[in-house]
Amino acid sequence: MPYYSDELIEEVRSANDIVDVISSYVHLQKKGNDYFGLCPFHNERTPSFSVSQKKQMYYCFGCGAGGNVVTFLMQYENDTFHEALEALAQRAGIELPKQELSGRARQEADKRAKIMEINKISAKYFYAQLRMEQGKKGLDYFAGRGLSPETLKKFGLGYANKFSDDLYQYLRKQGYEDEILKDSGVISVDERRGGHDKFWNRVMFPIMDANQRVIGFGGRVLGDGEPKYLNSPETMVFDKSRNLYGLNFARMTRNPYILLCEGYMDVIALHQAGFDNAVASLGTSFTAGHAALLKRYTKEVYCTFDSDNAGIKAALRAIPMLKEAGITTKIVNMKPYKDPDELIKAEGAKGYQERIDQAQNSFLFEIEVLEQEYDQKDPESKTAFYNAIAHRILEFPEELERNNYIEAVADKYQIGFENLKKLVIHQGTLEGMVKRPTPLKSGVQDKKQQEDGMRKSQKLMLTWLIEEPELFETIEAYLTPEDFTEELFRQIAEIVFEQHRQGALNPPGIIDMFSDKEQQKEVAGLFHASLKEVTTPAEKEKAFWETIIRLKENSINYRSKHLQPSDLAGLQTLVADKRRMQELYKRKP
Ligand code: GTP
Ligand code: MN
Repeated sequence: MPYYSDELIEEVRSANDIVDVISSYVHLQKKGNDYFGLCPFHNERTPSFSVSQKKQMYYCFGCGAGGNVVTFLMQYENDTFHEALEALAQRAGIELPKQELSGRARQEADKRAKIMEINKISAKYFYAQLRMEQGKKGLDYFAGRGLSPETLKKFGLGYANKFSDDLYQYLRKQGYEDEILKDSGVISVDERRGGHDKFWNRVMFPIMDANQRVIGFGGRVLGDGEPKYLNSPETMVFDKSRNLYGLNFARMTRNPYILLCEGYMDVIALHQAGFDNAVASLGTSFTAGHAALLKRYTKEVYCTFDSDNAGIKAALRAIPMLKEAGITTKIVNMKPYKDPDELIKAEGAKGYQERIDQAQNSFLFEIEVLEQEYDQKDPESKTAFYNAIAHRILEFPEELERNNYIEAVADKYQIGFENLKKLVIHQGTLEGMVKRPTPLKSGVQDKKQQEDGMRKSQKLMLTWLIEEPELFETIEAYLTPEDFTEELFRQIAEIVFEQHRQGALNPPGIIDMFSDKEQQKEVAGLFHASLKEVTTPAEKEKAFWETIIRLKENSINYRSKHLQPSDLAGLQTLVADKRRMQELYKRKP
């Protein structure tokens, strides 16, 4: 449910030129009619992020991110729709009526904003404490761990002193009530003792989201003690499985891969040593949510976990999740050191870089771990190990990939390519080839191609409708939104047809009518599909008519298949449409 009227949303959007707004985040250069820059939503070296002033939309040809000025802020700043709209209204000096936001939504937004403020104030407080007399212990601790003053500043490190309610008192003086303080995660309130600080006598690591806002804290004891790290609980703004420590910096890296560590100290040591692409999960194990988050920034992850058993286990857990998200994983070996922090202390940045260069393919790493489970001196156990390898290799769906791994593993364990290959085939037969997808039968393939073709012509027609408004009358003579058989495309067609009839075509506005992020992306992509491939006017006309014909044929086919025998009206339109097809064939140049 929109809390602001469509007119108001429209007013705010049109008051904020998309090129102006995006320029303050991304360096854009004009090329032809559009502007190009490095995409802020994925890692790239050559600009594939385009902004169209005419359409007031952006689209990345690399990762498919796209939308209007509102969705840009939503994506970039991690804002909700209302937060983005409010920011834009403020930017343009438009006053938004407060009461338009429903009571509950307004309360939630206020609460989130307050919790963010409390986190920020607390981070500043801890930061200041570290530099005061009572913070000397903390400062000495960090110095003892080799952190430079620049690093302390960059990560906003701080200190929670030994008083257990000074932060609480400080926040109360700033006007925050117990209720909200409790929800912020930095203060505990209990009935007997009243409010007190969650952290005391610990060095403090503020946790920032990808946009540099403090969303929580990790606090470490000075020296030994339990628990070693204390972390903020999850709050309205702190979702541990959707944030990573260091991502606010690592997202800016020029490196094509991300270094994934276990600890805060590892991330800090790596950044200090010049590895600006290190991140860690937040005192919890790595989740599929983290993998999806990383996928937004990179295609490749190097796991640089602790060298102990826990670290190996963590890597074995992370690999399939990263793979599922479409990320290639390599494993960096820290032995004989405990973790990246210690390795860098001992061997410096150069030593660590060597480890990166020698990082192991995740599959070979998994096989190496598997190897430990079998007694290599016992022939029977060894055979079982080889069969286990063959079993794992069968998980690769592509023959070429299987062969590459057969080669690598055969090489490493001196089994011989042909021997291992035979074993893999044998194992496959034993397992009934269930894991080996049979090649698609040609019929299936054809059907898929047909569907792709259908989608493509519907998409293309929507692009024509947007790019060449003067064609609308011609299009309307032959097509209706019902001819778009894809549900999403039909919805868009309905909106576009209606806007054309009203003489008020407004592509960026269409995006707001879809609340689902994936749908917004698809809509934006649609409006950025290019008609440029077609060059001469004659070619263009030919392509146009071909698209109409293809779309109409598809639609007729589709309806013939799905028509209910009792649907007389449907049958009549179908017959009329078939007749009109003859006209169309004649009109086609
Ligand atoms: P140092 O010992 O200071 O070098 O810490 P580290 O960063 O190397 O941490 P370690 O390898 O011991 O643990 C990895 C991560 O797990 C830490 O950065 C924390 O996020 C988390 N962690 C460690 N100990 C605890 C604990 O006692 N409680 C919780 N909740 N998290 C912990
Ligand atoms: Mn450590």
